[in-house]
Amino acid sequence: MAKSSSTYVCQQCGYKTPSYLGKCPNCNSWNSLVETLVSPRNEKLGLKAVELTTKPQRLTEAVKKPLQRLQTGVLELDRVLGGGIVPGSLVLLAGDPGIGKSTILLQIASLFKTLYVSGEESTQQVKLRFDRLGRRAKDLFVFTETDVDQIIKAAAADEYQILVVDSIQTMITSDLNSAAGSVGQVRETSYRLQRLAKEGKTTVFIVGHITKEGAIAGPKVLEHLVDTVLYLQGDRSNVFRILSATKNRFGPIDEIGVFEMKEAGMSEVKNPSKEFLSSRISAPGSIVVPVMEGSRPILTEVQALTSPSNFGLPVRRGSGIDYNRLQILIATLSKRAGVSLDNQDIFVNIAGGLWVKERGVDLGVCLAVASSAYDKVISKDTVAVGEVGLLGEVRVTPNEEKRLREARKLGFKKFITSKKVRTLREAVRLALNLKG
Ligand code: TYD
Ligand code: MG
Repeated sequence: MAKSSSTYVCQQCGYKTPSYLGKCPNCNSWNSLVETLVSPRNEKLGLKAVELTTKPQRLTEAVKKPLQRLQTGVLELDRVLGGGIVPGSLVLLAGDPGIGKSTILLQIASLFKTLYVSGEESTQQVKLRFDRLGRRAKDLFVFTETDVDQIIKAAAADEYQILVVDSIQTMITSDLNSAAGSVGQVRETSYRLQRLAKEGKTTVFIVGHITKEGAIAGPKVLEHLVDTVLYLQGDRSNVFRILSATKNRFGPIDEIGVFEMKEAGMSEVKNPSKEFLSSRISAPGSIVVPVMEGSRPILTEVQALTSPSNFGLPVRRGSGIDYNRLQILIATLSKRAGVSLDNQDIFVNIAGGLWVKERGVDLGVCLAVASSAYDKVISKDTVAVGEVGLLGEVRVTPNEEKRLREARKLGFKKFITSKKVRTLREAVRLALNLKG
């Protein structure tokens, strides 16, 4: 049952009911009812008599104020944020449980006057984690509370530069009856935190765990509300963590920051190319590709494994690369470059944990697969850059010179690009040194 101050609203059709129902009686959608606060509104009068407190301003007369940002000194983080933390902004840090969200935020928290709200751990646990980081912080306050209204009150009582809410899934307001973590609670508590951020100079960091469905609970609920959405990603079995922004009102969204999870917290990786390639061996199925991550080229190894498939439909699996793209590249490689891949299971992996969205990696993926299929090593000092078209042509990719410069810096000598080869067939011959 909803409280007198709340009602359940269908997110599909807007139908309202006082109690929770699994299925909306109006539009028949399942699980679409979300507890929502009823705001008293004068239904009769369309217009409300109010005093005008601010006035519209002619745009050409507006003064351009430079954003005063807080520098964290962690370059990888400042870059992703667009040059530092913007006071009064609301930032969502999302990621899988255990990936390092609390750790990195605690590190940032120690640099400023911060109220760190932990809804998941006790003060003792936070202290233990903090001691591990081996830092000093005289202005770091910990508050183990889940009632958002209490938190806002505590935050407003002092001038904090940063408020960390870890995590939004544990927060509640007693104005709603739903459980913590429900769409209704997540939405309402974030909304209140947003108002807090907008009113003052405190930057609010909200931690959001990615739920099983892959979305931040509840899915789009948070993203439109916040100024910045940061994702912390990486394989838990791997030490590298990639921080990226998928939304940023105050900066670019294509920059990434690379971190390494160490004994004493997250440390920034200043030269990702070098780190990503440090454990590389010479074997069939490997080639290096300089991929663009925002304005930076990063060298990463593309690995492929082909092996005879045991049952019926061959398996194709990619990690760090879009599955559909992989399917197309494999089809192109077999039809246009004559690499026989029937009845072969194919696995492709972007080593280091990057998720490559750009097409410059196409050629590298094809060559890694071909190298495994022929069981021939591509010489270790080779890099490949190029987009591959459906006709098997190798196309120019943006920032080619910038990418190759980074490769040269790290000692690579052979470059396979659209300057050297016109087709994928030629590229395979060149990379694998095939005769005839
Ligand atoms: P955590 O920040 O708790 O993840 P999240 O808040 O995203 O759920 O990090 C969890 C892991 O990080 C945990 O397995 C322990 C490890 N860790 C380190 O390796 N070094 C450290 O200094 C700390 C604090 C944690
Ligand atoms: Mg945590």
